[in-house]
Amino acid sequence: MADTETLIRDIVAAHPGTIEVFEQFGIDYCCHGALSLAEACRLADVDVNLVLERLAEIVTTVPSEEAPHWERASLRQIIGFIIHHHHEYTRRAIQAIRRGLSEVRAEHESAYPELAAVASIFNRLSQETLFHLAKEESGLFPRIEQLEMASRGERPAAAAAPGRAGEHSTIRVMMEDHDAAGAMVAEIRRLTGGYAPPAQAGAAHRRLYRELAEFERDLHRHVHLENNVLFPRALELERKLAEHRAASERLPLVG
Ligand SMILES: [Fe+2]
Ligand SMILES: [Fe+2]
Repeated sequence: MADTETLIRDIVAAHPGTIEVFEQFGIDYCCHGALSLAEACRLADVDVNLVLERLAEIVTTVPSEEAPHWERASLRQIIGFIIHHHHEYTRRAIQAIRRGLSEVRAEHESAYPELAAVASIFNRLSQETLFHLAKEESGLFPRIEQLEMASRGERPAAAAAPGRAGEHSTIRVMMEDHDAAGAMVAEIRRLTGGYAPPAQAGAAHRRLYRELAEFERDLHRHVHLENNVLFPRALELERKLAEHRAASERLPLVG
């Protein structure tokens, strides 16, 4: 069981149902998954003992098999899930939220001036996110799949070839993009009072806030899967391939 020094990402990896607890307490389990529980609680200004109690409840009452255990999946399977679940959802949600924002702004912007600020941030967030998804799908993800194939001997280890810079810098840029997206979503949450529609809000306004809340929830899960599961495993694989190559280059030539 977790204690105050356990890393957030290890708690989620061991028991994915704990994501619900972190979401309830506003604890960042995706961009800051490398923090200990105590540090993350301090940042979120919540009582670590209270969080530990809730985590223990979840671990004892919710079977861990209910959520997928990514530690046992191949990197190709994880990438497939990210693209077909998170990337496809993100593209659909961006279209729906853009439509909702223009509809609600056209009717109610004078009554709710925060809508203009939300639209401006969402516009930037959606442009940067669409570019980010394309970078992952056309560059980083295929290279990670090649690394995995090379580690199984299914293709030459081109991705770990001498002189190649490796994926550290690309992954660092992707993680910086995640931080920026997380900050923009947090600002939208603040501007909307935690996605609470005003008492007089109509159906379109309420739907828009529900869609924005769902977008944040999905983004956190998506970033967690990349930052805390896929990227560390890809870097570890790359390191092992480079070691393997260096060891084989040291072998004396025979004959
Ligand atoms: Fe992604
Ligand atoms: Fe990403």
